[in-house]
This record gives sequence, C-alpha cells and structure tokens, in this order.
Amino acid sequence: MTAPPDAFPLLVVDGVSKAFGRNCVLKDVSFSLSSGEVLALVGENGAGKSTLMNILSGGLVHDGGSIRLAGKAFSPATPTEANGAGIAIVHQETTILPDLTVAENIFFGDEPRNAFGLIRQGEMHAHAASLLSTLGFSIAPHRLGRDLSAAERQMVEIAGAVRRSPRLLILDEPTASLSAAAAQSVLELMARLKATGMAIVFISHRLGEVLDSADRVVVLKDGQMTLEALRGAFDRNDLIQAMVGRTLDNVFPERPADLGSAPIRFALEDCGNTTLPPISIAVRRGEVLGVAGLEGQGQKPLADALCGLQPFTAGHMELDGARLRVPSPAAAIAAGIASIPDDRRRDGLALTLPIRHNLSLFSLRRSAGTGLLSIASEEAFAEASRQRYAIKAFSLDQPVGQLSGGNQQKVVFARWLANEPRLLVLHEPTKGVDVQTKSEIYHLIGKLTERGVAVLLISSDLIELIGLSDRIVTLYEGRISGEIARSDFSEEAIMHLASGPVAQGAEAVDA
Ligand SMILES: Nc1ncnc2c1ncn2[C@@H]1O[C@H](COP(=O)(O)OP(=O)(O)OP(=O)(O)O)[C@@H](O)[C@H]1O
Ligand SMILES: [Mg+2]
Repeated sequence: MTAPPDAFPLLVVDGVSKAFGRNCVLKDVSFSLSSGEVLALVGENGAGKSTLMNILSGGLVHDGGSIRLAGKAFSPATPTEANGAGIAIVHQETTILPDLTVAENIFFGDEPRNAFGLIRQGEMHAHAASLLSTLGFSIAPHRLGRDLSAAERQMVEIAGAVRRSPRLLILDEPTASLSAAAAQSVLELMARLKATGMAIVFISHRLGEVLDSADRVVVLKDGQMTLEALRGAFDRNDLIQAMVGRTLDNVFPERPADLGSAPIRFALEDCGNTTLPPISIAVRRGEVLGVAGLEGQGQKPLADALCGLQPFTAGHMELDGARLRVPSPAAAIAAGIASIPDDRRRDGLALTLPIRHNLSLFSLRRSAGTGLLSIASEEAFAEASRQRYAIKAFSLDQPVGQLSGGNQQKVVFARWLANEPRLLVLHEPTKGVDVQTKSEIYHLIGKLTERGVAVLLISSDLIELIGLSDRIVTLYEGRISGEIARSDFSEEAIMHLASGPVAQGAEAVDA
C-alpha cells in the first residue's frame, strides 16, 4: 500500500489483525485517516468491517499490529475508554430503547443528575432539543423510542454519538434502512460534521453514497485490504473489483416484456385497519409489484397486515381467485404468503440459536407433520441453504447473532423461501446486503416469478425498485399516490409521485 500523503493523520492503523478462535477475520489491515476527512469502508458481508470498527471503539481488542490516535499508541480496552479518547460509534443494529424518550436515549448512561442522584429531566430534555436542532433534526425530545421511524432512530443514535463532539465518528451502515431522502440527510449531516474538523468512518453497501461522500476509501475482502484510494482515484468498478474480485454484470434478472395477460394472483380491495387507510392493489402471477415511498408512508403497516401481524379489519383480499383472510402469521404461512420483515432482529431471527435451527424453523414445522423430518435432512437443508445463499459462517452451529449483519439477512431469506410461496412480500429485502449477494437475491426472485410467484417489493432503494419491478406504485400517507409502468421508470418519476398525490382522488389503478 502506498503511504498516505498526510503529515499528521489523526488515526493510523498499522498491520492490525484479529481472530475469533482459529478463525482469522482481519489480516494485516493498514490505513490512516485525518481530521476533517470521510473514510468509506466497504466490503462484502462478513469482510470484517464491523469487527475493525469494534476494535477502534473499544468493543474488541486486536491480536496483532498497532493503532495510533493523534500520535499516541491506542488500544482501548472498553467502549468507555475509546469514548474518553474521542471516538464515538453508531452501531449497525439499532440500540434505541423503546420505553425511553428520545432525550433519555441520547443521554443514556450519562444523564445530568442533581445532588440526590436524580436525573434532571428538564435540563436533559432541553439539551436534547438544542442538540437535535443544531444537527437539523426535527424530532421532539419527549417522544418514545418505540414510536420512531427507522430514519428517526438513526438520527437519535447519531445525536447520541456526536453530543460530546468526538474527534472520530464511526457510522456503521447508517443509511441501510433509510429511504433515499432520509439517507441524503445523513450524508449532508456527515458533510457538516466533517467541516467542523471531525474525522468520520462511514460504512455502506450503497456504492453511490460512497462515491458521493468519501474522501478516501478502504476496501476489505475476507479480512484483507484490497484497496485504499483517495477521492477521484477510484470509481464504481474499482470498488466492485476490489470487493468481489471481479466486475459484476447483469445485477438484475431479465423481466418479461408483458405480463398483461397473466391472471391476477393476489388482490386487495379497500383493505385497511386503524393504521392504514383503505388500499387497493392487484399483483399478477409472476409479477413484481414495487412499492415505493418516503419514510413511514404506510410501508410497515402494509407489510405487517399481509403477514398477519396487524391484520386488515376492512376490505376484501383474494389469492388465486379465492377469498383470503390473514388473521395471524400462522394463517399467512398456511395460505402461502411468505414475508421477509425489515427488522430481522425483532421479527426474523432467534439470535442465540444456532444458524442451522434458524434456517430450518419453517421447514421443520412442515416436515414434522408428515413425520419425514430427520436430523440428516435438517443437516442437508441447512448445508444447501448455506451454499445457495453463500452464507458466510465458520460452522452452522454458530449462534446466528455472531454472523455479520448481511449474513443474518441471508439466513432470514433462506428460511422463508424453504417452502415456495404463492405471494412473497419483501420489505427492504437487501438491507445491509453486499452487491454480489444482492444480485444473487435478485436473480432468485426472478426465478421465483418464472414459476408464478407474485412479489410485492416494498423498498426504499430506488435502484432496486427500478431494476426488479414490473410496475411500481407509490405510497403517500398510507394511500397509493401513483403508478408507473416499467417503460416509464426513473428515479425522478418515483420521487415525484412519492412526494404526494398528483391529482385529487388519484387512486390505485388495477393492472
Ligand atoms: N463474536 C464473534 N465470534 C465469532 N465470529 C465472529 C464474531 N463477530 C464477528 N465474527 C465473524 O467475523 C467475520 C466478520 O464479521 P463482521 O461483522 O466484521 O463483517 P462485516 O464486514 O461488518 O459484514 P456486514 O456487511 O454483513 O455487516 C464474520 O465471518 C463473522 O461471522
Ligand atoms: Mg457489519
């Protein structure tokens, strides 16, 4: 690697390595970062990005190599020590506590207290309010964690991290679950913080964001550095080449020219409940219907209703011409509806159980009834899933919680698709998934549609919506504000319709 040009970088990582047991996950990683610089750290799922950041922020201790911070040897034994040295991290998975207010979340563990040790609520909420407004976030400090949208949770996490003006701010996939507009506001915030002299490490699988915001990029592949480059000296293909080892063509599957004559597989007519106004949608056999929208426009209630978590209380649903009722998640599964939730840690996975048990949860249920299940078939299924989805794990007996974020998402996918569904409801299916695996998942969805599976793709990723959908509808305040045919797809067209109804009374248009 060439020597970095800075005379006095804030952070110098030199030959750092880390192993878990016999498994080496970081090998001889070296890079440097200066104040006022944004470093983007990219790499496939399991490449070692979060592990490296956990070392810098005191969550893990490295085995070999050295780290220098502001010229001094640095090896934080605890997060508190790293914090004291001016390093703040926003972890990949949200740590917002649902029962605490925004202000309590921001000051958690460090609340202002009076002489009796009681929290000064007024002072804390006032501080939070001024911090949030300085950062340009309009979130009321008294709101509860549970009521925040994904974007707001991310904003509150960032506020908690920057409240003590760290020298180095680490953001581990801050935009993964955000809509394009919300992600843009995180990037703008990074630019403002950088202008104050803060150094920032930013992890993202969205290469467009990396190209837009990074002054310097570091690529990891299987724990080794494959690229360090300054802004202007790398492009999208260089990143992919360094991450994957080759360039990627045909990220998306071919879509059929016309699905107009395929029978309707799934239809909603005026379906609603307390959180969702009546909505009408129809999806043909083999069709991918994209659902776009700004943050929090009804996407989650729609997904929750279809998987039986928060059922519709009004309207009429049909699957293959027959009346459909989905009063519970079990009923959804029995009807042939598979749904991949956006929050894998809450709805998707048993983190402490081994990967193999997480994988076989639903197929076990099915096979148990027929008496056909055996340990051997569970083993075979788990192994086949690992290969098919390229799940990166040292052993299938590892608890799923030990997997990297993207690999956890692959386990969710593999499990839900163990039985071929009639309707597949996807909510942010590739959140946190690397480019190569994303492409594999897209082709898998393409294969399912060839066999007639209808897909409802609820996503904030415009590139994904455009690449995969046959038709896109936009949600605005829980209602359908527009529909776009594949020939008219563009980011601008989607954003335009997603920001409000075009004409009074614009309603769902059946295919
Ligand atoms: N506590 C642990 N015990 C054992 N293995 C671990 C542990 N933490 C991480 N690993 C392994 O280290 C490797 C690197 O994981 P890491 O979380 O750093 O990846 P990542 O690059 O952040 O991936 P992603 O993009 O999916 O978040 C993975 O193979 C993971 O399973
Ligand atoms: Mg990670």
